[in-house]
Amino acid sequence: MTSSFTKSITLRKQVTMDDVEFGHLRDFIYEKCGIYIPDNRKYLLENRLLNRLRFLGLRTFGEYFYFLKSDQGGKTELQALFEVITTNETSFYRNPAQLKVLENGLLKSVMDEQLKKGSRDIHIWSAGCSTGEEPYTLEIILHEILKAQRSLWNITIMAGDLSEAVLASAARGEYTEYALRTTPKAIIARYFTPIGNGRYLINPAIKKHIFFHQINLNDRAQLRNIRRSHIIFCRNVLIYFDEAMKKRVISSFYDNLLPGGYLFIGHSESLHNISRVFKPIHYPSAIVYRKEG
Ligand SMILES: C[S@@+](CC[C@H](N)C(=O)[O-])C[C@H]1O[C@@H](n2cnc3c(N)ncnc32)[C@H](O)[C@@H]1O
Repeated sequence: MTSSFTKSITLRKQVTMDDVEFGHLRDFIYEKCGIYIPDNRKYLLENRLLNRLRFLGLRTFGEYFYFLKSDQGGKTELQALFEVITTNETSFYRNPAQLKVLENGLLKSVMDEQLKKGSRDIHIWSAGCSTGEEPYTLEIILHEILKAQRSLWNITIMAGDLSEAVLASAARGEYTEYALRTTPKAIIARYFTPIGNGRYLINPAIKKHIFFHQINLNDRAQLRNIRRSHIIFCRNVLIYFDEAMKKRVISSFYDNLLPGGYLFIGHSESLHNISRVFKPIHYPSAIVYRKEG
């Protein structure tokens, strides 16, 4: 008897991606979403796409490539492709040194600037938000700083990602202890409700300020439609792009930011060789980029 498990093992063993197939798929992925898969990551693409081949009943990666390009299934499959090629690793209170910058004055200075203009509107954009831990952390920080005054401010957080699966998960707002591993206990007690089996629900008061939406950072027209921001977070996303794509994305962020606005990128990422238009501001263990006003 051949179980589906044995069949899948057989498929796993038999189907390999040759260099031509890899080249086609790599270029296709890059053209669609700007994610660049280097040669030494071919095995990763092969592993991640094998399930798609199995699901679609295709025999080779070449067939898969033609299916992606076909009218027949291409559009739906493109989203499925995005789901398997994106890496969604994230957690609450990730890179605390950067968040401290926000807590210890940066947010207050943005608020003071707005008050000078007679406005209480602030717009924050979390680009590449994954399952929501980053934008929810930002909203928790706002609550911690503003307390009862939070309701006096019209601060919105837009949170976008390419993957529909992570956005659906973010909208549910349910998390494991692992996602909260670097979150202070007092914060967990204030903003989460335990629902058993080591799982937690984020409080509705935090949820209501975040607007999740699908976005492709490779789509300039889509980026131009995003409301202009005072602060952009795009952490641990640029690492998946090549230099040309990084330049395009950073230039879109520059256009989106209001004068005097701030850009946070990942702790291990840099704008070196990518852009000189921002002013880097150095803090202990963190750099924040400012669009001069
Ligand atoms: C490693 S996660 C980073 C999550 C969060 N910003 C953090 O630092 O914890 C990278 C996210 O970027 C998203 N992403 C990758 N390419 C993208 C693109 N072209 N447009 C929008 N999001 C993209 C992925 O789907 C993934 O959820």
